[in-house]
Amino acid sequence: MRKEIETREDIELLVNRFYEKVIQDGSIGFIFNDVAKVNWEKHLPIMYNFFENLLFYTGSYVGNPMELHRHISRKLPLTNEHFQRWETLFCQTVDELFTGEKAELAKQRALSISTVMKIKILDASAAGRIF
Ligand code: HEM
Repeated sequence: MRKEIETREDIELLVNRFYEKVIQDGSIGFIFNDVAKVNWEKHLPIMYNFFENLLFYTGSYVGNPMELHRHISRKLPLTNEHFQRWETLFCQTVDELFTGEKAELAKQRALSISTVMKIKILDASAAGRIF
């Protein structure tokens, strides 16, 4: 039974389930596992804070995702297809678990941030400006 996103626990479930999909994914999993070699103990709480802040304005996330993804893209140039896959997996996870206003907002906000990232990172990459 799908429910509304209401609590920190809901956010944690969403993020955990999302990354279960990501790390097994044939097109973007390796970026997390092999390129960035993500320390999950460190990364997951950051992502809980990020999405909690996005939906509930808790002020719990402080950071610079644009710079971090630019850094990743210097090691492995991120493509439109990578971003599309990220977006699909994220929206699928939200829809599998949740329904309602915050669920729609989560997808909408993630997609708009992804669009900004694509503009900044893919353009910079194409122009050779990120090296
Ligand atoms: C091609 C798509 C993407 C890939 C491959 C990707 C990959 C990664 C990786 C490898 C990290 C670093 C984890 C670490 O070492 O700690 C990261 C961090 C992060 N990503 Fe992404 N990402 C993508 C898209 C997005 C999008 C669309 C969003 C937002 C809607 C996002 C939000 C974040 C945030 C908030 C962090 C943590 C930043 C921090 O440490 O402050 N990512 N991502």
